[in-house]
Amino acid sequence: MIHIPIFLREIKKFFFPSSCILGNFTIVDCTAGEGGHTFSFLDFSSKVRVIALEIDSEQVVEIQKRRRKLNISQERLKVFNLSYSQIEEVVSFTGWTVEAILFDLGISS
Ligand SMILES: C[S@@+](CC[C@H](N)C(=O)[O-])C[C@H]1O[C@@H](n2cnc3c(N)ncnc32)[C@H](O)[C@@H]1O
Repeated sequence: MIHIPIFLREIKKFFFPSSCILGNFTIVDCTAGEGGHTFSFLDFSSKVRVIALEIDSEQVVEIQKRRRKLNISQERLKVFNLSYSQIEEVVSFTGWTVEAILFDLGISS
């Protein structure tokens, strides 16, 4: 069953108040899960980049499969099988400047 990302419309409205994005807009999805929020952000604009953190390796495999299927390069989506407790190291590793951070701490059902 496909997981429906929670508050997706509200979060996108908050992150992207205007449909016009001038430069790169980088989001850290700290609990990427199946990638519901992540792929929706990437779909919003080609200027959006996502650093996805997910502790569950099976979910990470699924996100990578979906990334390849959608032909999204690792220049736009970097996926790490790590805990959000390592956010600082991960962001520093990517060298990207971050504009927004999402924690979806709900339970997937
Ligand atoms: C509600 S789900 C996220 C769903 C996701 N936003 C989506 O749209 O598909 C929460 C996710 O957080 C992950 N998680 C739990 N603890 C974590 C941690 N310390 N670091 C990173 N991910 C974690 C879980 O494995 C689960 O996949």
